[in-house]
Amino acid sequence: MKKSIGFFFCFLLIPFLLNAQNSLLIKTDEGRDIINKNIYGHFAEHLGRCIYGGIWVGKDSQIPNTRGLRNDVLEALKEMSVPVIRWPGGCFADTYHWKDGIGPAEKRPKFVNTNWGGVVEDNSFGTHEFLDFCELIGAEPYININVGSGTVQEAREWVEYINSDNESPMANLRRQNGREKPWNVKYWGIGNETWGCGGHMSPEFNVDIFKKFATFCPGKFKILSGGTSDDLNWTEVSMKNILTGRGAHLMQGYSYHYYTICHDWSKKGSAVNFDESEWFSTMKKTWWVDENLKQHTDIMDKYDPEKKVALLADEYGNWFDVEPGENPSFLYQQNTLRDAVTAALYLNIFNNHCDRVRMANIAQTVNVLQAVLLTKDNEIVKTPTYYVFKMFKPHQDAVMLPFDLTSADYTSGTEKIKALSVSASKDKTGKIHISIANLDPVNQQEISCTIQGADIKKVSGEIITAEKMNALNDFGKGEEVNIKTFEDVTLKNGKLTAKLPAKSVVMLMIE
Ligand code: AHR
Repeated sequence: MKKSIGFFFCFLLIPFLLNAQNSLLIKTDEGRDIINKNIYGHFAEHLGRCIYGGIWVGKDSQIPNTRGLRNDVLEALKEMSVPVIRWPGGCFADTYHWKDGIGPAEKRPKFVNTNWGGVVEDNSFGTHEFLDFCELIGAEPYININVGSGTVQEAREWVEYINSDNESPMANLRRQNGREKPWNVKYWGIGNETWGCGGHMSPEFNVDIFKKFATFCPGKFKILSGGTSDDLNWTEVSMKNILTGRGAHLMQGYSYHYYTICHDWSKKGSAVNFDESEWFSTMKKTWWVDENLKQHTDIMDKYDPEKKVALLADEYGNWFDVEPGENPSFLYQQNTLRDAVTAALYLNIFNNHCDRVRMANIAQTVNVLQAVLLTKDNEIVKTPTYYVFKMFKPHQDAVMLPFDLTSADYTSGTEKIKALSVSASKDKTGKIHISIANLDPVNQQEISCTIQGADIKKVSGEIITAEKMNALNDFGKGEEVNIKTFEDVTLKNGKLTAKLPAKSVVMLMIE
């Protein structure tokens, strides 16, 4: 009996012992690199209901719109401060012929979207509509060129159509179509996943194709299509052949894609009905991005020690099974607190790699994969992921602050990962923001933070959490997940102590 009472008290002590492991030292005097605001970017493809129904409803729709673009979506994206948006794909980009999407809508040819469900694409959303959308939400456009089934001439003409202010056939065509001034698009992707849907190429062939397209496309910032996330050889071959060969000046960016899937590609797991082992696996697989980015950036550092070439994580996020009853090719999934916590983990990782990672584009903006917005007819839902992007806004273009973190482990069976993920920044007004995700869905974590190099007077906080792991926001119901005020933080003798609830994302604001 005595023994079991002793055991019982020891058991009660465990959380306190674990909590003692959490400590954070923020070095405000050592900040150097800027967290490029484009890390908070998005990706919108002609896939399922992302463009059609999600962003574009057409000018004659009953749904309130501005020149065919949904007003509720425009408002929500503006409020979230979307800095950059990638379009038109994805796999779709390599079947897209831009001239089909300009001029009077009724004259635009229709074709079949062979990548995503064989639906008819009527081209009503094309270059002008996309660039109008970007201007309305204040985002920079990032256009992905068709390398797979397009020609160098077609790509060159697209850049000319969009960017030329001269007397030229394409600039004149744009003027005829109602746009006098060029848009000056900076970011141009040369192919997409050229290892797969973009052409099943070898890295060597991809390099040569890239050089050919990039030589004749006058865009300012050209992005080479990267390999699969675990293909380090692709990065090695690309960096070596471009940066030490002819045409080193052609590449400004290198694209990196990674999707978190719960099990494997044949069974990705439900977005909503999951257990704790699936929660753990989602967190663990997302944590791997930190290690994987280091592997890729180490290779890039060898050939580009001055870090001139940016790494763009231009597709990432959670990829779960399509919701029951939905078209399997439309990749529509719900979004829960688990997505919010992984979004925070991804963004913290990108922030901490900001010396090399200068853009990231979550897949995809509306109604597809880890969407920030869901729409159904005239209704809109802001997902838990939306609120993380909104909460993390102060990190955009702020100085990344290095830190030392000691974190408790989050264990599941014989496996363990760090329970806490952190990033910190100082904005132009001197305010410090620390974003912390507690990945552990059961245990609260108490953390003590020392802010080195700053005399702090005030702290406040915000939190995203919920009772259930799979809490979500749905049509016609009140929100289960959004941003609330965080009260559990104290400031004493210049030291902060915060109690982070299980499965939460917290933003501390320090002045
Ligand atoms: O985002 C969905 C698809 O995932 C994209 O079209 C493709 O690039 C990737 O494989």
